[in-house]
Amino acid sequence: MGGPLRAMSKADVMIRVGINGYGTIGKRVADAVAAQDDMQIVGVTKTSPSFGCDLAVRKGYPLFCTFDDAERIAAFGQAGYECHGGLSDMLSVCDVVIDCSPGKVGAQNLEIYRQSGVKSIFQGGEKHALTGLSYTSSANHAENLGADCTRVVSCNTTGLSRTLVPLQEHCLEAGGISVNCVMIRRAADPGDSGKGPINAIKPVLKVPSHHGPDVMTVRNDIDITSLAVAVPTTIMHVHAITVTLPQGHGLSTESILDMWKNTPRVLIMNGANTRITSTAEVMELARDIGRTWGDLHEIFVWEDGVSLQGDTLYYFQAIHQESDVIPENVDAIRALMDSESDWKASAAKTDSAIARFNGL
Ligand SMILES: NC(=O)c1ccc[n+]([C@@H]2O[C@H](COP(=O)([O-])OP(=O)(O)OC[C@H]3O[C@@H](n4cnc5c(N)ncnc54)[C@H](OP(=O)(O)O)[C@@H]3O)[C@@H](O)[C@H]2O)c1
Repeated sequence: MGGPLRAMSKADVMIRVGINGYGTIGKRVADAVAAQDDMQIVGVTKTSPSFGCDLAVRKGYPLFCTFDDAERIAAFGQAGYECHGGLSDMLSVCDVVIDCSPGKVGAQNLEIYRQSGVKSIFQGGEKHALTGLSYTSSANHAENLGADCTRVVSCNTTGLSRTLVPLQEHCLEAGGISVNCVMIRRAADPGDSGKGPINAIKPVLKVPSHHGPDVMTVRNDIDITSLAVAVPTTIMHVHAITVTLPQGHGLSTESILDMWKNTPRVLIMNGANTRITSTAEVMELARDIGRTWGDLHEIFVWEDGVSLQGDTLYYFQAIHQESDVIPENVDAIRALMDSESDWKASAAKTDSAIARFNGL
């Protein structure tokens, strides 16, 4: 799906990136992009003056209004913020825009991006049908090379892909894997005050849930289905996963753990030895690591919760919903700009730059 929009040429030094929607995901993607030596943030948008503008100003990101409306742009100046114009002004200085607007809102922006000649990356709150192409670094970086627009899949789909894709690649010749998973979902992000449940377990009654099948938008040969429940926590999702391996797979619990230890952005730790027995301790570990906002880009797998019994593999993994997709957005920029064709090379570059940015 190569396209006519601004592709990277050898003469280009830095990929110019704009963020439309500077909220939970947008502010994190902005920092991850700013950390890279081959891309720069040329602007972020806010709908109106609010405390998030202060963060953009402190980071030195040029602030734009989400809309081109003169009155709304003027409101920023009246509140004491320097606003560089509306969305069209930001798009005029971008090679690629990362749409981090609320779920289902981004869809209305695609035509605006196309008309501006800017490549675009959407988030998991949009449907695959919007772009006809989705993205996960480990699953289909190559398929996205040179594309005009794509969708970085949701935090849950990203988490499932990280551990399932290497398993599928190993088992492909023997017939491939078959997956059932239960998604135990956080009720709301920590910054949300309007969502619940606060004292209930809420099953998603649309069966199967969309999470498993969404993996097939990036890896359509994985046979997968899922159920989901929302629980009263704000900090992480947990997946309980059952994988049927094909006969002749040749794997053991130990070799599967080794496979994941060698997979970028998967973190394996033993719960009993480390006393990391719940998402609370995983998040405390993430805060200790020192990334901004206590983020954990890696998918956390409990070593002692992994067990291969016959041809059936059981495991649990925890997903930091606000941050596992962040490095994926950076890799997706390189895919669309066709500036790095090897996903592992991109992932290594992305992750080491983020680590340096956080002084680690
Ligand atoms: N949060 C997660 O855990 C998570 C994980 C993975 C993927 N995602 C996906 O990422 C996307 C963004 O989610 P989020 O959690 O970052 O949402 P969020 O925290 O609500 O941030 C969205 C931002 O976009 C701004 N905005 C509102 N309307 C807009 C419009 N028409 N155009 C551009 N920006 C607009 C919002 O308002 P202001 O400018 O007024 O602040 C806000 O800053 C969604 O597709 C979501 O499904 C979220």
